[in-house]
Amino acid sequence: MQVQLNPIKTIEVALQEVASQTAGFNIKFCPGVRLADPKFGDYQANGVLGYAKITQKNPRELAQSLIDSANNSGQFDSDMVNLSLAGPGFINFKLTAKFYWQWLQKFATPSDFELGAGRIKKDRRIVIDYPSANTAKQAHIGHLRPMVIGEAIARLLDFCGAKTTRDNHIGDWGTNFGTLIMQIKREGVELDALGDDALVKLDQLYKDGSALELKQPEIRTTSRNELVKLQAGDPENTALWQKIVDISSVAFDQIFKQLGVSVDVSLGESFYQDKVGRIYKELSETGLAEESQGALVVWHDEVKKFSRNNERPYPFNIRKKDGASNYASTDLATILYRVETYRAQEVIYLTDSRQQDHFQQLFLTTEKWFFQKKYPLPLMRHVYWGTILGEDKKPFKTKSGQTIKLQALLDEARERAFQVVTQKNPELSESERRRIGDIIGVGALKYADLSSNRTLDYEFNWDRMLSFEGNTAPYLLYAVARINSIFRKVNVDPENLFSEASPLETATEFALARKLIEFVHAVELSLNDLRPHFLCTYLYELAGCYSSFYNSDKVMVDNSEVRARRLLICARTRTVLKTGLNLLGISTLERM
Ligand code: ARG
Repeated sequence: MQVQLNPIKTIEVALQEVASQTAGFNIKFCPGVRLADPKFGDYQANGVLGYAKITQKNPRELAQSLIDSANNSGQFDSDMVNLSLAGPGFINFKLTAKFYWQWLQKFATPSDFELGAGRIKKDRRIVIDYPSANTAKQAHIGHLRPMVIGEAIARLLDFCGAKTTRDNHIGDWGTNFGTLIMQIKREGVELDALGDDALVKLDQLYKDGSALELKQPEIRTTSRNELVKLQAGDPENTALWQKIVDISSVAFDQIFKQLGVSVDVSLGESFYQDKVGRIYKELSETGLAEESQGALVVWHDEVKKFSRNNERPYPFNIRKKDGASNYASTDLATILYRVETYRAQEVIYLTDSRQQDHFQQLFLTTEKWFFQKKYPLPLMRHVYWGTILGEDKKPFKTKSGQTIKLQALLDEARERAFQVVTQKNPELSESERRRIGDIIGVGALKYADLSSNRTLDYEFNWDRMLSFEGNTAPYLLYAVARINSIFRKVNVDPENLFSEASPLETATEFALARKLIEFVHAVELSLNDLRPHFLCTYLYELAGCYSSFYNSDKVMVDNSEVRARRLLICARTRTVLKTGLNLLGISTLERM
């Protein structure tokens, strides 16, 4: 049996081949393989039971016949894996010490892992739509999740071999531009002269403009006219709009940098304005869209949930009454562009859970439209999440009830982490404590977000996320730093081959190695569901196994073979922790 990154896959494929060659077995019913309770082995296949029931065969005999042909097939060498029959017809697989040894030698560096995982999504063209904020507004706490979750998902996909395009679908074409331009002109603001916190000022201008509109409704006409002029391509308003967009993008880039977010393209809603005409035309021609009270809409009568209390489900509105495009028309033009330009096979959208209806309607419309036009339909997925709550279980706000700015949150995370580091390591220089505090603070903020199941709300708690105990970033970063210190002491490169190492012996060695081999399984779980918390849970468990191992098996023993094998396990634990944290967008520290 060849040593591959994910032995479950190897075993599953081999078992299928064996099943197809076993008399009286139907390949369609070949059992899947899954992780087993360690008491019984590494993996288990129990699908024989179903087949036995249908064919009224004795499940134990059936499983045994599969084991016999597996043993005769030459695919399951007994020095690598042992098969045994258990219970009412389960097949248990136990990897041998030799297999473990070879696996640990073979997967030494993050790139070894990437190479191995690269088959999972090999060359699949995937567009990820994130963080997609709106122009002219400062980033606030609501932007944390799309950035953090989006980046983790993008990294997971890249790691698994996908060809990703990270597309920041910014909202740069809303009615707010009318108000903003009105207020800029009213106050005679020079956009070029706004200086460093230009976006903060723009934010304020918009708020002042909206307040004015409320007080003097006739101002709304002025704003609307500015918007109409902008949409008609008026040079002055277009130039203002461009400056606003540029100011926003500079400010967002600063946040992206701090959070380790990297986007490939930023094609905002404005980019699609000359592309929506084709959407109206195609959807009308195919009979999917029709005029309704002046608007252009697509009905999905079959979806009862869109009805609310109405008799007929409410439709997907793709062109406003006044003829202007909207969020839906832009998104329809966007999906077509992604399929035609990037030849996207998958498109993943990230927004909070309030947009679920929009995406359901968008996906349904796209399916029907693409089917009629015979366009290749990509797999479309909406990744959404719950709310970040404060201690009072209400959306997390500042003490005075304001929205928390993302920059302020990042600054506070760094400062608090700096305090924690100072307490732990007062002897380090201030600049060193700052550097470490920055990594821990930002890492803790991200990890707290990623480690909870994204569709649930979670409670924001500084003390918990910065704690060195429990499922936190500091705990994991500390585990890496502790392993690093071992290798500094022995002066060995942890990405070495440890050919002197003897085969594993103790139960804790096996338990840790077993957990290491499980890594790709955890990556796949996260990827299938686009839920990074599976990977977090895994890393936390891995660090726990490492602790048990470290506490019970001394590493620095005199016997050089035993020492080499224990160093080998430490080294690979380090690689897996670092690789996993990097997938989550979290940097590690050499020491802390
Ligand atoms: N700009 C939108 C918002 O802030 C999110 C855009 C999500 N992407 C999309 N293609 N609709 O809510």
